[in-house]
Amino acid sequence: MKNILVLGGAGYIGSHTVKKLLIKGFNPIVVDNLVYGHKAAVLAKDFYQIDIGDKIALNSVFKKHKIDAVVHFAAFAYVGESVTQPQKYYHNNLINTINVLDCMIENDIKNIVFSSTCATYGNPQYSPLDEKHPQNPINPYGQTKFMVEKVMDDYDRAYGLKSICLRYFNAAGADKDGQLAEKHNPETHLIPLVLQTALGEREYINVFGNDYDTPDGTCIRDYIHVEDLADAHILALEKLFTEPKSYRINLGTGIGTSVNEIIKSAERVTGKEIPVLYVDRREGDPAKLVASNEYAQEILYWIPKYVKIDDIVESAYKVMVNPPF
Ligand SMILES: NC(=O)c1ccc[n+]([C@@H]2O[C@H](COP(=O)([O-])OP(=O)(O)OC[C@H]3O[C@@H](n4cnc5c(N)ncnc54)[C@H](O)[C@@H]3O)[C@@H](O)[C@H]2O)c1
Repeated sequence: MKNILVLGGAGYIGSHTVKKLLIKGFNPIVVDNLVYGHKAAVLAKDFYQIDIGDKIALNSVFKKHKIDAVVHFAAFAYVGESVTQPQKYYHNNLINTINVLDCMIENDIKNIVFSSTCATYGNPQYSPLDEKHPQNPINPYGQTKFMVEKVMDDYDRAYGLKSICLRYFNAAGADKDGQLAEKHNPETHLIPLVLQTALGEREYINVFGNDYDTPDGTCIRDYIHVEDLADAHILALEKLFTEPKSYRINLGTGIGTSVNEIIKSAERVTGKEIPVLYVDRREGDPAKLVASNEYAQEILYWIPKYVKIDDIVESAYKVMVNPPF
């Protein structure tokens, strides 16, 4: 049985991936400092409350378990905050990740799957975005992920460290069994915010701009179900074990959904009317961000199963009305 060290495995995407790893017969070992994660979301038997910046503690985990590969989710991911507090982001997302890579080299571990993002592309020059699109991040969050990709390129050339950087679009939804959920605090993601509004926890949902050059004037994004993301991590690990080579791969459905369409979907799923407040555009929000997932299909044989937005929204709603933790 292969031992997979999951950094940030108490978080949203990490916890769903841990569940998939267990189902697929891997042995996940979770490290999370619980700054944003939830202990109750960790389904693995081995859990260490450690900061990935703590080299001594991290090394002790590497020494205790014979790690075959690392899956690295641990990061800060609030774009707005990264603009006002870049130091926090460069320290955690970049410097701490270099710490992880150095520990891997010290312990002769050569395979890592990394959570990158479509935010590394910046403003799209064409759509759908493929992996050849220029990477010009427009905020420190995207910049940190872009820099990590570059560090990993150099570590591959110099030390033979193989990395698959998965550039997620908008992660959404929750475990179909209702065992795990998206529980960010503060929550900034659209689907949970819209559902909280449907449940009366918010007075209205703010929609930032309805004068974009899109069919209904609101921004279009590519919502990818968290279970589909988890599946892609398993495929990426299997790829590294069978054919060690570095890749940078988009993970999205290839389908664009506007903010208004999300609200309509949430109204169908919940049966409730959702009050909307249209406000000014936010700086740095492109009109449309949609993935080309052809490369993921070609390299990982990955095809997303959740393609209907109502199914994604419904899975999120199910755990919101019946929270697992
Ligand atoms: N959610 C999305 O839509 C999305 C999109 C693109 C990329 N990503 C990336 O995917 C990854 C996971 O995102 P998520 O939505 O699950 O976030 P999350 O906040 O739910 O999970 C991240 C986890 O990492 C932990 N963590 C952070 N810094 C740490 C440190 N120094 N040491 C130990 N643990 C630490 C947190 O406590 C948390 O449990 C992140 O790297 C994020 O940048 C997310």
